[in-house]
Amino acid sequence: MIRGCWQLSRGHGPGWSRDLAFAALDDAAGRPGPLVLDCADIYVGVEELLGEWMESRGDAAGRVVVHTKFVPDLGALDGIDRGYVRRIVQRSRRRLRVDALDLVQFHWWDFAVPGWVQAAEWLAELREEGLVRQVGVTNFDARSLRVLLETGIPVVSNQVQLSLLDRRPLGGLTALCLERGVTLLCYGTLAGGLLTSGHSQESRSLTKYRAIVDEIGGPGVLARGRAALAEIAVREGATTADVALAYALSRPAAGAAIVGLSRRGLSPDPLAVTLTPADIARLEAAVPTTVPGPVYEAERNRAGPHGRIMRYDLNRDGDAHRA
Ligand SMILES: NC(=O)c1ccc[n+]([C@@H]2O[C@H](COP(=O)([O-])OP(=O)(O)OC[C@H]3O[C@@H](n4cnc5c(N)ncnc54)[C@H](OP(=O)(O)O)[C@@H]3O)[C@@H](O)[C@H]2O)c1
Repeated sequence: MIRGCWQLSRGHGPGWSRDLAFAALDDAAGRPGPLVLDCADIYVGVEELLGEWMESRGDAAGRVVVHTKFVPDLGALDGIDRGYVRRIVQRSRRRLRVDALDLVQFHWWDFAVPGWVQAAEWLAELREEGLVRQVGVTNFDARSLRVLLETGIPVVSNQVQLSLLDRRPLGGLTALCLERGVTLLCYGTLAGGLLTSGHSQESRSLTKYRAIVDEIGGPGVLARGRAALAEIAVREGATTADVALAYALSRPAAGAAIVGLSRRGLSPDPLAVTLTPADIARLEAAVPTTVPGPVYEAERNRAGPHGRIMRYDLNRDGDAHRA
């Protein structure tokens, strides 16, 4: 399990003071095993916050792995050069207060704008140099991921939405990932709380996943999916969230479920549930339709219900764009 830190960013939702964020991070760090956090250069204020938290925790921070992202602004895509990529990576290192970034996940808003293979190559050069330990991507469909792999970019992971509600990665993308040893890191596993017993506050996650619910048939289908998860949860003595995570993790090539940080506690052993093929079939029968098209295709339509609610310019803050 990876803990997602979009929830801590300014603009995701109300209510995360620095103290609350530190308390949630301390709680996550107190669980057994290494703590893996997911953030991004465009989650405003989050890389800085994690850097401050890790520094303040001294040795304990040695157990923390931080995955960040490289998400150039839509308006900048046609002007990216090697120096731009380096400046963004250097800015993330500075904000996180680390020598090398554990994983940088590359996102490109619009594949019709050329330059994305070259940008990924420049990112891979920084891996050679030791500023970045691993290169990943996020929201890449099978066709675009294949292009990067065939160019020789050493992509280790692809962070995509994968849940009972959104099964777009299954099929083409999972087959490619299995063939090429790329791990899927799954977000949206709880649909921001829509798939579980709920959520404590309004957030950008909920806006995002309500649009997904509309795609798959609306609140009635969501309720049937939640009921099917709850039924298995009762049988297993687990929570609905645990079963939702088990669903994502049971899918081929899925290596981790990302769960957004929350002030609500996780169950003591959130990864304890193992689903049978009959469970999977029952869950998928309860939610028979998934979002149409390849991974993230619907989101790439900027005039559509998913594209309209996104921000495309969150990277321009700060010093990365100064010459
Ligand atoms: N690459 C991308 O494009 C992309 C897009 C979206 C997200 N992400 C990543 O994925 C992470 C997860 O975000 P998400 O938007 O997909 O949300 P999520 O993980 O599906 O939902 C997390 C939210 O679910 C609620 N929740 C309900 N029951 C819970 C339980 N038992 N345990 C924990 N939380 C519970 C909490 O809301 P309350 O706190 O309100 O109760 C929590 O904040 C983000 O932080 C980010 O790192 C990446």
